[in-house]
Amino acid sequence: MDTMGDLRRTHYVGGLREADAGCELVAAGSIAKCRDKGGVIFADLRDTTGILQLVFDDSTDPVVFAKAGTLKSEYVVMAKGLLRRREAPTDKIPTGGVELFVTDLRILSEAETTPFEIRDEINVNDQLRLKYRYLDLRRPAMHQPIVLRSRIAKVIRDYYDEQHFTEIETPMLIKSTPEGARDYLVPSRVQPGHFYALPQSPQLYKQILMLSGFDRYYQIVRCFRDEDLRADRQPEFTQVDMEMSFADEDDIMTVNEGLVKRVFREILGVEVQTPFLRMPYAEAMSRFGSDKPDTRFGLELQDVGAAVAGCGFAVFAGALAAGGRVMAVNVKGAADALSRKEIDKLTEVAKTYGAKGLAYTRWTKDAKSSSFEKFLTEEEIAALYAAAGVQQGDVLLLAADADGERACTALGAVRLALGEKLGLIDKTKFNFLWVTDFPLFEYSEEAGRYMAKHHPFTMPKEEDLDKIESDPGACRAKAYDMVLNGCELGGGSIRINDPALQDRMFRALGFTEERARESFGFLMDAYKYGAPPHGGMAFGFDRMVMLMLGRDSIRDVIAFPKVQNAGEPMSGCPETVEQKQLDELYIRLDVPAGE
Ligand code: AMO
Ligand code: AMP
Repeated sequence: MDTMGDLRRTHYVGGLREADAGCELVAAGSIAKCRDKGGVIFADLRDTTGILQLVFDDSTDPVVFAKAGTLKSEYVVMAKGLLRRREAPTDKIPTGGVELFVTDLRILSEAETTPFEIRDEINVNDQLRLKYRYLDLRRPAMHQPIVLRSRIAKVIRDYYDEQHFTEIETPMLIKSTPEGARDYLVPSRVQPGHFYALPQSPQLYKQILMLSGFDRYYQIVRCFRDEDLRADRQPEFTQVDMEMSFADEDDIMTVNEGLVKRVFREILGVEVQTPFLRMPYAEAMSRFGSDKPDTRFGLELQDVGAAVAGCGFAVFAGALAAGGRVMAVNVKGAADALSRKEIDKLTEVAKTYGAKGLAYTRWTKDAKSSSFEKFLTEEEIAALYAAAGVQQGDVLLLAADADGERACTALGAVRLALGEKLGLIDKTKFNFLWVTDFPLFEYSEEAGRYMAKHHPFTMPKEEDLDKIESDPGACRAKAYDMVLNGCELGGGSIRINDPALQDRMFRALGFTEERARESFGFLMDAYKYGAPPHGGMAFGFDRMVMLMLGRDSIRDVIAFPKVQNAGEPMSGCPETVEQKQLDELYIRLDVPAGE
């Protein structure tokens, strides 16, 4: 093996073009591919910016040529040479117009055969890719998102900095935050039996920073939530977190629309139109069956309750009598595209969202089949068709539930499945909107009481202040989510800065005075000494990068993600620890057999 000696990289390869031909340069990287054509050797050199073809032929120095003959995939090399135009240019790679005629080659590290080939076109089992994450991250399609992520973070920092925000780090070992997920706990050795929580978000600290007079704060910060993984959810993820003083909802939305506009322009060259559409929560639920509506396609929900009120179908009549809703989606002209089997599949989708079923009418050119029309009179059917605009060729799908929101949510999920199935979603679009006016409280069947929908420091709408005790379910919050293509990109709220109102909120949430003090005493005290009005929000940074790059999972934009069982396959964590470490912490394990 060679050493670098006095050879130093002069160029990264990704940007080399025909105009650079004639240039003497030194490149450094790994061998992506090698082809010995007898007399001519081609080797693709890959660095963090791209791929460049190296050539060795009969005019190459014989020593260098012999060495080139020993090259194998993933060998780490430095190559000095003359950049020249390729006789047969290719547009498969951006540097396809040039190649490096090598005059000096150093093999700096040899490589064993890798468990899978390092190129984008291959299909490899996920577990294997994650175990050898360092190899997977060499593949350009895995590599580039991580590089872009860094550039996006830089644009974000520039933007907030120009807007007079100060980046302030908040602690990682903290008292539990009330974001509603399960905490990751860290035992204290110095205070036996006491635990820190890892932050679910910097929420309390950023509020305190407003009270400390910092006026505008932001942070790109790691957050930890012990919850089930999904494509857009990791136990450890990154927020772009911000808070500002003397601000109301409009100010916070405007600043963050500006951020999105800037990032999309600088990174993607995409002009995002601002201000974004704003849609109250109630409207989003009624029209899209979701608090994060995907507005890239229509297929909106309709409330057909009035048309079927008092009808003979017990499912509809019963739901309405119980104060619920009957919601419908008319899938125009889809009678042929949606077979009975497809409708059964959609029914299963609805059921996973808590619906008891999905009623349908499928009206093809030959026949009509319906799961419920036999229970309706001619007039009732006519009224329903008029309400939903049903014509021959359509499929009408309905969900009825005593819990109106559940009917909406279930049908909203069916709508999304239909959007995918029927190819209605324009994947090139970036559709932003704000969902506003969220409910302040959410009733928890499990806890048997109202809980904060966002968190307990969220400011109620002024017009709902008098309903906090009398009608909590009807109170709306000064809270907003930014939604992109059906994904919750971020969310936040205006905070309560009046200790008396905060007291009322705690009581409405069923906190005793002691429990409120125990959990948030320091915060309640802080608000006694003069608190500017303030509010903020946090973006899911991983989600932002994922959506910008058109990826399906945030795993693709995180260098070392966790998998379903919250483990990290490369290092093998979480792991058991030595008894000595447990002893120091006075921790005794009591893990049930089989766990
Ligand atoms: P919230 O809990 O809505 O608000 O989180 C803000 C944003 O963070 C992203 N996010 C996640 N991304 C990946 N994996 C997860 N497990 C995960 N959980 C949340 C989402 C979400 O919109 N402190 C408040 C913000 C505020 O009020 O200012 C908060 O954390 O994109
Ligand atoms: P059943 O009377 O149970 O045979 O149901 C008749 C039809 O109504 C079937 O297609 C069911 O899937 C559907 N259905 C049942 N419950 C609901 C509901 N809550 N909302 C909409 N349709 C339902």
